[in-house]
Amino acid sequence: MLIENKNKNNGEKAQISLRQSSTFGVPTATGVDLSNVLNGAPYEQFRKEVALDIRRSRGTFFTAPLLAERTARELISRTGITSKVVDPCVGMGDLLLAYARHLPIRSKIEDTLADWGEVLHGMDVCADLALTARLRLKALALYRHGLRHNKLRILGEFPNIKVGDFFDNVETLAEYPAIFINPPFQQARTKERLSWSSGQVSMAAVFLSKLLEHVSSSTSVMAILPEVLRCGSRYTKFREHIASLGFGGNYTSHGRFDQHADVDVFSTLLSRDEFSGVWAPATRNHEQRVISDKFEVRIGTVVPHRAKNKGAWRKYICAKSVPLAAESFEPQSSIRFTGTVFDAPFIVLRRTSGPSDKRRSKPTTIFSDGPVAVENHLVVLLPKDRENGLSNCHAACRVLRNDRTQNYLNAQMRCRHLTKAVVENIPWSHND
Ligand SMILES: C[S@@+](CC[C@H](N)C(=O)[O-])C[C@H]1O[C@@H](n2cnc3c(N)ncnc32)[C@H](O)[C@@H]1O
Repeated sequence: MLIENKNKNNGEKAQISLRQSSTFGVPTATGVDLSNVLNGAPYEQFRKEVALDIRRSRGTFFTAPLLAERTARELISRTGITSKVVDPCVGMGDLLLAYARHLPIRSKIEDTLADWGEVLHGMDVCADLALTARLRLKALALYRHGLRHNKLRILGEFPNIKVGDFFDNVETLAEYPAIFINPPFQQARTKERLSWSSGQVSMAAVFLSKLLEHVSSSTSVMAILPEVLRCGSRYTKFREHIASLGFGGNYTSHGRFDQHADVDVFSTLLSRDEFSGVWAPATRNHEQRVISDKFEVRIGTVVPHRAKNKGAWRKYICAKSVPLAAESFEPQSSIRFTGTVFDAPFIVLRRTSGPSDKRRSKPTTIFSDGPVAVENHLVVLLPKDRENGLSNCHAACRVLRNDRTQNYLNAQMRCRHLTKAVVENIPWSHND
């Protein structure tokens, strides 16, 4: 399969075949330096040749060696080297390469290639990527045999790494003891019927749920996934669905995927023997009072690109108009809006907040004579006790600014968006 690439300068469509790329050393040249095939050079070339919007729409972001190695090691320490392992979205083979670094080699390269070919399975919708994965695995085998400059040509090695669509082949995954996956992350509408969501969803969730619906009871699945699946309120039903299939798994947060993909990720080793739950947030101590005891937490209701400019004039605040470090703010601008509005005083927090931010919650108290329309990039905290609303807002702002809250948010949320549930459970504590 060729990847279609749109040339931004003239709008013409060009077709890119990775097979023609000299950087992969494929397959004619003799004396190829194999370390160039094993390091990040193929991915670098891929990024040059395939436009970012196409990479995004196909989810072709490949796992960096350190993350691949950590997750491979964790998988192997749980399952041992299994008779076969499959990456159903193999890309350029980075996960299988990390796995193969742990495979034994034989005295003859042909025997090593034959053994590895039995163990390593994979598929990708893109034929060029599947071929690149096979070439790189062959390069690794040669390299480990000390054949560091060699001819790279596929002569039938790695027959189980094929071109294929995950959704057409998912039933075949039932037979694997170990699955190693980093699925595409893009948001899309899927043709799959989902019991846990509708509309646009992260394809990573669609791939994972489909996979877990089909694997056998003894399969272990090591998955690299976007953090939003672990802690986003939108994915609560998805997590419940995974748990209802009998799976559980711990998780490790890894922060940003890499310098080319600005998305926070975690890894998880899922199996039906694991009873730790599906990425359950730390359990709440019911003695501990939390924000939702005193405040109703809502998400702003104005979605700017959908606003119809109809209805009564309302005071309006958005993430850009509310000053960041202010104690309080009185809205100056107005919009016409028919949806839900909020009576002041109340507190707002920006929903975007990264783990690298010094302060993740920067509260501002909003004053206004009339009801206020609030953009959906803001979290709204409405005091339940309206009579003492203002003093409760001041007290909550102190809680929201203190170090304990920042630590709580960092522990709970590695992704960039504060969710309603996480804000509701912020401990009500004045101690720093
Ligand atoms: C995030 S990349 C991961 C690649 C590799 N496993 C890694 O970790 O570096 C996801 C891969 O899935 C492939 N892919 C997308 N849709 C697919 C499908 N329906 N079936 C199989 N592969 C698919 C993409 O071409 C891409 O190579």
